[in-house]
Amino acid sequence: MAKLLTVQGGKPLEGSVHVRGAKNLVPKAMVAALLGSEPSQLRNVPAIKDVEIVTNLLQIHGVKVEADPVTNDLTLDPRESYSAAHSEIDAYAGDSRIPILFCGPLMHQHGEAFIPDLGGCRIGDRPIDYHLEVLRNFGAVVDKSPTGIHISAPRGLKGAKLTLPYPSVGATEQVLLTAVLAEGITELENAAVEPEIHDLIAILQQMGAIITVYTDRTIRIEGVDRLSGYRHRAITDRNETASWASAALVTQGDIYVKGAAQRDLMAFLNTYRKIGGEFAVDDDGIRFWHAGHALKPLVLETDVHPGFMTDWQQPLVVALTQAHGVSIVHETVYENRFGFTEALKRMGASIQLHRECLGSSPCRFGQRNFLHSAVISGPVELQGADIDVPDLRGGFSHLIAALAANGTSRVTGIEVINRGYEHFMDKLGDLGADVVMSER
Ligand code: EPU
Repeated sequence: MAKLLTVQGGKPLEGSVHVRGAKNLVPKAMVAALLGSEPSQLRNVPAIKDVEIVTNLLQIHGVKVEADPVTNDLTLDPRESYSAAHSEIDAYAGDSRIPILFCGPLMHQHGEAFIPDLGGCRIGDRPIDYHLEVLRNFGAVVDKSPTGIHISAPRGLKGAKLTLPYPSVGATEQVLLTAVLAEGITELENAAVEPEIHDLIAILQQMGAIITVYTDRTIRIEGVDRLSGYRHRAITDRNETASWASAALVTQGDIYVKGAAQRDLMAFLNTYRKIGGEFAVDDDGIRFWHAGHALKPLVLETDVHPGFMTDWQQPLVVALTQAHGVSIVHETVYENRFGFTEALKRMGASIQLHRECLGSSPCRFGQRNFLHSAVISGPVELQGADIDVPDLRGGFSHLIAALAANGTSRVTGIEVINRGYEHFMDKLGDLGADVVMSER
């Protein structure tokens, strides 16, 4: 039966939440274990849906995955891995975008890989052309079929000179996970350099890989014959941290995020301060709060690291509905990441979407008719509404809008949020949110 969350708004969120390993690193670290000839151990693993999906995918390939019942730390043993049946892999079609990253490791171990239709949030077209192009450059043969993509390496995989058209996180991970065991040297230009990429590189280095990151977004990988296992503690989820920080601002609350790491949040913290949010860093985390002064509007552009992350945009837009004046947000990473503003408008927000690049520099979407700039006027009083959660970050944003709004909101599709926010309902409870879950 579908779940319904009834939210009574108007109460500041106050208290402490513990944010653990990054959703955008942990599943990839799990895939990396498949490259080893010994078991790996991963700590700080959140209990989220994406980890469950990748556990299942690894298990159908013969990888033994054991989770500590208390800490959720994982032991991943790939020593008896094998090629899984396409029908078994296909059962995970549409669930996650991680299966595409199995290509390199599976080709190295078993000569072939099968990728089902991918899932993930509907925030744009999300093509995989960069992934397939780099795999072809390594010598892979790609065959598309109606159910998925079959990829094989009849003559092995060889290092290559590659340039990405855009610094894609997933395509950079694809290159790393393929190049480490490919024959010879790979040089990747215009690579993504997000903290999660550096954490994956640290894992691969522990396993025996030789990877150099240059300051100009070039990554050089010297292929080796064999990789061992790793023991690693995943970096904290900076997107979840930014989400709770925005929730503190939107609800005029005060939230301590245990585990938050300042160095991975520099661009976010600068913006938070400019809007008028307060934060204090200590050894174990960061406290975020609304100091009671009027929030200030600003002009903001999302970008690849070290810029302001696209995943921080949606919760922050809700905070900007409370700022005094006109804010502009230019989304330059995904062409269609403002769909969530429809529900905010129904709740009383004043947001206009534009096809033009309203930021300081034109982006890839300016000429392509996408509504990728937003003008937000505030402050407005948000009103409770009926909401169906559209995607992970958009859903979180709707929820914090509902928590700040006058009156009651009825939220469906809340399960989507479990993909990326560990123990979400418990955390809301710990922060004193007035929420009740029921069956519909
Ligand atoms: N792109 C292509 N072709 C490709 C790959 C990417 O055109 O083959 C484009 C995308 O359409 C997008 C841009 O390149 O416009 C950047 O996409 P990227 O590949 O960097 O994104 P991703 O690897 O699919 C990860 C995170 C996203 C996060 C982005 C950007 C995971 C599982 N997902 O996606 O996280 O927004 O990087 O940092 O790591 C989220 O957590 O809510 C989320 C969507």
